[in-house]
Amino acid sequence: MTEPTAAAVVAPWWTSAVVYQVYPRSFADSNGDGIGDLRGIASKLDHLQLLGVDVIWLSPVYASPQDDAGYDISDYRAIDPSFGTLEDFDALLADVHSRGMKLVMDLVVNHTSDEHPWFVESRSSLDNPKRDWYWWRPTRPHMEPGAPGAEPTNWGSAFSGPAWDLDPLTGEYYLHLFSRKQPDLNWENPQVRAEIYAMMRWWLARGVDGFRMDVINFISKAVRADGSLPDGIVHDGALYGDGQPHFGCGPRLHEYLQEMHREVFAGRDVAPLTVGEMPGVTVDDAVLFTDPARAEVDMVFQFEHVGLDHGAGKFDVHPLRLTDLKASFGRWQAGLAEVGWNSLYWDNHDQPRIVSRFGDDGEHRELSATMLATVLHLHRGTPYVYQGEELAMTNAHFTSIDSYRDIESLNHYAEALAHGQANEDTLLASLRAMSRDNARTPVQWDATAQAGFTTGEPWIAVNPNYREINAAAQHDDPGSVFSFYRRLIELRHTEPVVALGDFTMLLADDEAVYAFVRSLEGTELLVLGNFTGAAQPVTLPNAQVWAGAELVIGNYSDPGVVDSLRPWEAQVWRRG
Ligand code: GLC
Ligand code: CA
Repeated sequence: MTEPTAAAVVAPWWTSAVVYQVYPRSFADSNGDGIGDLRGIASKLDHLQLLGVDVIWLSPVYASPQDDAGYDISDYRAIDPSFGTLEDFDALLADVHSRGMKLVMDLVVNHTSDEHPWFVESRSSLDNPKRDWYWWRPTRPHMEPGAPGAEPTNWGSAFSGPAWDLDPLTGEYYLHLFSRKQPDLNWENPQVRAEIYAMMRWWLARGVDGFRMDVINFISKAVRADGSLPDGIVHDGALYGDGQPHFGCGPRLHEYLQEMHREVFAGRDVAPLTVGEMPGVTVDDAVLFTDPARAEVDMVFQFEHVGLDHGAGKFDVHPLRLTDLKASFGRWQAGLAEVGWNSLYWDNHDQPRIVSRFGDDGEHRELSATMLATVLHLHRGTPYVYQGEELAMTNAHFTSIDSYRDIESLNHYAEALAHGQANEDTLLASLRAMSRDNARTPVQWDATAQAGFTTGEPWIAVNPNYREINAAAQHDDPGSVFSFYRRLIELRHTEPVVALGDFTMLLADDEAVYAFVRSLEGTELLVLGNFTGAAQPVTLPNAQVWAGAELVIGNYSDPGVVDSLRPWEAQVWRRG
């Protein structure tokens, strides 16, 4: 193996790390109630250790009414009984640590549950001391409370309907960018911020290794001096105004993140991992958020590449143009080359399965999944693997609305039908492509009943393809998708050029082949991926320099050639 370079010695630990996201409800159920839980996760740590990941990110396990599957928290310092207890959590954390892995919590602090005691107090009267902890506003002037359009702004909620609800108790509206059971916290109030920082320190003191920060770029709203919030533009065909320009990356966001860093993260021996989920963030914003000198967050989740197949909204599905994907990733790689850091992901609990989305989940499932993995993991940045991605699990392919559980999907379906925006078949087709439930079917552990996920009835149906696609069938098979992911992860750990090399995009105009070079101190990697099910010629600008290069990893059993790719082929060549 190559000696670590000077760059590698000073680089933060997470530049060569791979993170694995666990969505607890769907991971493994230990007690037969059909819901995944902490003991279930503990029972599957061998799988994660074998895979070789460095960090586990746990989607929320806090006390929650589960209106948005745990992203609606009613107690930040308690574990929801459906997932277990604090003792179970401590045991899991200790086990994760003893295996040399880290554990990162989800941090959901743009909003709480409406059942959180803070909101219960806040809503109780106009002069409650916590009234100002949330966004309460009066009815729009000259309108009847509760009348359509009487909301304080015209913003739509991410889960359909208006972003405001009238609370009959005090006759005012409260803001909820997500469901009505997820009221937005008012970060303008310093007591709110102090409480959140104290809670974060409490988890760090318990031993957690960082936070994935849910929609953290929504916490600062563009409130006017008179306390009002601006209306948003109503795009063609939309039912509500677009509030994002007024709550996305708002005026005080950098200030809040820097304050959080000072109050929570600064001065610790091992720097916790911080990743901010930031819908709508641009490259220029991300440079500021991730510049180490500014001390805000280590990296952000940006959404550009997972929006390239969206039309008017996420449920308006368009085919991906590969040149768009390359332009987008290329811009992010270049923009964060000198300052800042990228996170890299295809999948998470909000996105459809990548093999069904940009690959081929039929005939070429394994090839397309491993090609997609290769292209992603060879970029510069920290890769995230979402549970089941390492098995090439596919979309759910549900055919009836009754199969869905996700609030976003169900609300969208009901709203679009009610307003005659689409018919049932069209809606079911777009949910089949884009619903978050595609990622939320249970992890397929083996070929026994319910894929080995539960001995009971799962909260959401297991994909019937578990008989062919499951972990048990892949663990010991060197040709499996799982074994391929193991090798990719290992490559990042052992090849400094994978973690830290410069990135140069090639063939930007090619609609079939993804190609780029990584280079670090005399070592170069050429990465090629065929995004189609047909053979493709590859015409590199200086193909001759790769003659005699060594194939580091590829998804066919024989190395192949650089000037022609087989269906969904991936190749990584090394020279120097
Ligand atoms: C984030 C989460 C998503 C959740 C939303 C509201 O986008 O990833 O699952 O519904 O925030 O918390
Ligand atoms: Ca359970």
